[in-house]
Amino acid sequence: MAAANPFQDQARFQRRVKPCALVIFGANGDLTKRKLIPALYQLALERRLPPGFAVIGNSRTHISDDEFREKMRQSVQKYLEDSRFEEEVWRDFASGLSYVSGDLNDPVCYQTIASRLGELDRERQFGGNVLFYLSTQPSHYGAAIGGLGAAGLANGGGWRRLVVEKPFGHDIASSRMLHDTLHKAFREDQVYRIDHYLGKETVQNILAFRFGNGIFEPLWNRRYISHIQITAAESIGVEGRGAYYQEAGALRDMIQNHLLQIMATIAMEPPAVFESAAVRDERAKLLRSIRVMKADDVATHAVSGQYGPANVGGQELAGFRGEPGVDPEAQTDTYAAVTFFVDNWRWAGVPFYIRSGKRMPKRVTDIAIQFNSAPHALFTGDTHDSAPWARPNLLILRVQPEEGISLRFLSKHPGSGMRLRPVSMDFKYGSSFGVRSPSAYETLLVDALMGDATLYTRQDMVEASWQVVQPILDFWAGRKFDFPNYAAGSWGPKESDDMLALRGHAWRTP
Ligand code: BG6
Repeated sequence: MAAANPFQDQARFQRRVKPCALVIFGANGDLTKRKLIPALYQLALERRLPPGFAVIGNSRTHISDDEFREKMRQSVQKYLEDSRFEEEVWRDFASGLSYVSGDLNDPVCYQTIASRLGELDRERQFGGNVLFYLSTQPSHYGAAIGGLGAAGLANGGGWRRLVVEKPFGHDIASSRMLHDTLHKAFREDQVYRIDHYLGKETVQNILAFRFGNGIFEPLWNRRYISHIQITAAESIGVEGRGAYYQEAGALRDMIQNHLLQIMATIAMEPPAVFESAAVRDERAKLLRSIRVMKADDVATHAVSGQYGPANVGGQELAGFRGEPGVDPEAQTDTYAAVTFFVDNWRWAGVPFYIRSGKRMPKRVTDIAIQFNSAPHALFTGDTHDSAPWARPNLLILRVQPEEGISLRFLSKHPGSGMRLRPVSMDFKYGSSFGVRSPSAYETLLVDALMGDATLYTRQDMVEASWQVVQPILDFWAGRKFDFPNYAAGSWGPKESDDMLALRGHAWRTP
C-alpha cells in the first residue's frame, strides 16, 4: 500500500473562501495601491473571491466611494503584473468597494465602520465575517487595535481576524509591547502577522523540495553541507521611503523578518504533519536555535554598509544620504551581512551567511547550498584554485526573479583525457508549469480569509528573530561608521567579503 501523502487531503488545499468582508486601514498608502488591491482584483479575475465579498478602505483623506474606486482602478491598471484588466470583472469587484474616512484616534471612525459593515452585511450577506488589515504606519497600530476593541469590532456575528503588516516593533521590547496591545483586543488565533516572503511560491516550494522528495533530506546536514548563502539584493534605492528607512535599515527591514524566515524554512526539521501549528512550531524551534551573538562577536560576524553616489550605466545615482527625507549624516545600514550559526545536531558548525542590500547591481533573491567537496580528488589534472574539482556541488534555490532551482555538478568535458567542467541541471517554474504563480499577497490574503495561518509568523518567531539581531543592533548603535562604504550599483562593502574569507569562503555572484 502506498504511504500516506502528508501534502494531500488538507483543508489548506481546498481553497474556497466563505463569504466575508475586508477592512483595510491605510487604504491611501502604497501597500494598498501596489499590492493589496491588485491582488484582490486578480483573485476576482480568477473567481476566487466569495460571492458578496466587500472591501472597506479607511484613511484620513476625505474622498467619496466613487473617488476611492477610481483611485483603485488606476492602481490595478498600473500595478497588475501579469494579467489583463477586464472592465466587466472590475465593475463587479468595484461594486463591493467602499470607503470610510476617519482618524484612527477618533472613536467615531470605528462606529462609522461598524455601521457601514452592518449595511453591507444586510445587502451582501457575509454573515459578520470580517478580516481587518493594518497597513498604516506602525505608529498607528496601537490606536487602531484599541479602537477596534473598544467599538466591539474584534468580535461579531461571524469570525473576526486581524492582519498586521511588518514591522512588528522596532526592537525586542517594542515587539512585546505590540503583542500586549494586540492581546488587549484580539485572541492570538485571530492575529495574522504577515511576512510576505513566506507567501512567495518559491519559498513555499522549499518545503515541497525538502519534504516531498526522498533524496535531498539525507544530505541536508552538517556532514554534507559546507555552508549556506542567502542573498536578497535589490537594485532600487529607498524609493521615497527615506524617512521610514533611515530609522529601519537593512538588518531590520529585511533580515530580521524575511531572510530569517527563509533561513528557518531551509533549516527547520520536518514537521510531523503539514498543519499550521506543526509547521510554525518547527520554524519557531529553528529560530530559537540560532546562536545569539555576544557583543564581542558582532565585529567579526556582521557587516554594515551604506551606499554612496555613483554613475551607473551613464545614470547619476544619489548616495543614501542624498535621498529625499534622509539625514545627511545618517548612520543607517542600507546593506547588512551576517554570519549565523544554528546550535543543534543537524547544523552545528555550518555557517549561514545572509546578506541584503539596496542599490546592488541587480534584483535577485536566492539561496545557495554549498556542498562539501568530494572527499578524495581523483581527477586532479588541474591544480590551481579555480580548477573545476575545487568547485563542489552547489544547489541554488532561486526565489526571484527567474524562479527555479539549479544543481551544479562536474561533468567530463567531451574529448580525450579526463577534463572536468561544472554544468547545471536547471528547473524553471515558468517553463515547467506554464501557468502564472500567484503573488505572495494573493496567497496570503486567501489564507487569512480562510483562517489558515501556516504562512504567517507568530509572536514566538518574531521574538526569536529579534533576539538574534538585537546584539547586532545594539553594537552598531554604539558605533560611528565611516559611511558610505560601497558605491551604488556594487555588491556591497569589502568588509563583507572579508567576513566570509575568515572561514575560507567567498560570496557567489548571483
Ligand atoms: C519589504 C521591505 O518588506 O520588502 C522593502 O520593507 C523591500 O524595503 C521589500 O523592498 C522587498 O520585497 P520583494 O517582494 O520586492 O522582494
